[in-house]
Amino acid sequence: MKAVKAVFWAFLFSFALAIADEPMVVYLTWTKDPTTTMLIQWHTPAGASSGLSYHADKENEWKQAQGNSQTVQGTNIEVHRIQLEGLTEDREYVFKIQGSSIEYRFRTMPQKLTHPVRIAIGGDAFLGDGMAAFHRMNKVVAASHPDFVVIGGDLAYTTSGKHIVKGRKWALSRWQTFLKELQETLKSPEGRLVPILPVVGNHDITKPKYQTGAPEMFYEIFTFPETGKAYRSLNFGDYLSLLMLDTGHTWPIEGEQTAWLEKALKQSRGTYVFPVYHVAAYPSFYPYTDRIPEKVRKYWVSLFEKYDVPLAFEHHNHTFKRTYPIREGKVDPSGVIYLGGGSWGVPPRRPASPDQRWYLAKSKGINMVYIVTMTPDKCRVEAKNNKGFVFDVIEAQKPGFAH
Ligand SMILES: [Fe+2]
Repeated sequence: MKAVKAVFWAFLFSFALAIADEPMVVYLTWTKDPTTTMLIQWHTPAGASSGLSYHADKENEWKQAQGNSQTVQGTNIEVHRIQLEGLTEDREYVFKIQGSSIEYRFRTMPQKLTHPVRIAIGGDAFLGDGMAAFHRMNKVVAASHPDFVVIGGDLAYTTSGKHIVKGRKWALSRWQTFLKELQETLKSPEGRLVPILPVVGNHDITKPKYQTGAPEMFYEIFTFPETGKAYRSLNFGDYLSLLMLDTGHTWPIEGEQTAWLEKALKQSRGTYVFPVYHVAAYPSFYPYTDRIPEKVRKYWVSLFEKYDVPLAFEHHNHTFKRTYPIREGKVDPSGVIYLGGGSWGVPPRRPASPDQRWYLAKSKGINMVYIVTMTPDKCRVEAKNNKGFVFDVIEAQKPGFAH
C-alpha cells in the first residue's frame, strides 16, 4: 500500500512540476514572409527561458532556437518571442518550448495557390462577460479550417472602464483569457495552432483618452514589423496582399499612413488585395457623417478605387453589412464592395436598413465572420453566422472581382 501511495505522490509531484513549467499561453503570428517564417510567442512568469526546439514534420532531428523576452510593465509576466526563419513553404513543423513537454504544430503558407488557402476575417471579438458568444463563433471558425485568422480590432476590450479601476494585471489576464481561448478552440485535432493577425481597434488602445504614460499593452502582447505600429502589409507568395490598417487609434489616418498605403497598393497589383481595418468607411450602425468614417473615405477610399481593390473588410459596427460596389461616392459596378462589420462575439446591434442608407445592399443584426477561400482562378467569400450557416456569398475572379 505504501508503495502505491509513493507512486501516486511521485506522479502528482511530477504532474505539478510539468504544469508549473507550461507556458500560460502560446500564440503565433507573422511579421515577415508567411511562406518561410513563423513568429512564436508565449507567456510565463519572469525568469523562464526563451528557447525552443523544432523540426519539420516527418523529420526527427530537433533544431534549437533562442528568442528574447520582455516583461509586461506592471506585472511579473514575460512575453517570449522567437522568429523562425528559413523554413520550407507549405510545410508542417513541430515545436517544443524549453521546459515544456507539449508538442505544438504550425504550417507555413504556400508560395503559389497549389491548394486553396483559407482565412477567417472578423472583428469585435470578446466583450465583457461574452465568453460564450466568443467561444461559439470560434467553434464555427475552427470548423471552417482556416490557415490563419485576421481579427479586425476590438479584440478583447481590454481598455474598458474596468481597466482604469483594475489596472494592468487585469488587462493582461484578459488578454491571456482571449489568447488561450483561441489557442485551444482553433487548434486542429493534430495540435496545429492557427496564426493570428491582429488589427488595432479603439478598445485595444488607451491613448489618447486615458493617457497613462505606460506602454500600450496591445503592443506588448502582439508583435509587428515595426514596434508600436499596427498598420502593415503582409504578402503571401504570388496570390495575396493583406493591408492591415489603423483607423487613427495609434497612428493618424492621414499623412504617413496614407502615403504608405498608396505605396503598398502600387506594389501589390496582380494579387488579391484585401484591406482590413476597424472603423468602417461605410457604417451600418454608426452615422455616415462621423469623423473617422469621413476621414477613411477622404484619404483611403480614393486609393482603393484608384488601385481597383475589389473589397474591403470593415468592423466596429457590431452588425453584418454588404455594400453595393461604390466608386466616387456612387453605386458603380466597377467600384469597391465594403464588407462588415465587427460582430465576431459581441452582442449584435440593430443596423440601418438598405432603405435608410444608399450604399447598403444588405444588413443584419447578427454575429458573423467571413471565411475567405482563395483558389487560382477565384476567391469565395462566405459570411457565416454563429451556427456555421452560410448566409451570404461573393465570388470573385483573380485579380478583379466579377460582382
Ligand atoms: Fe470599435
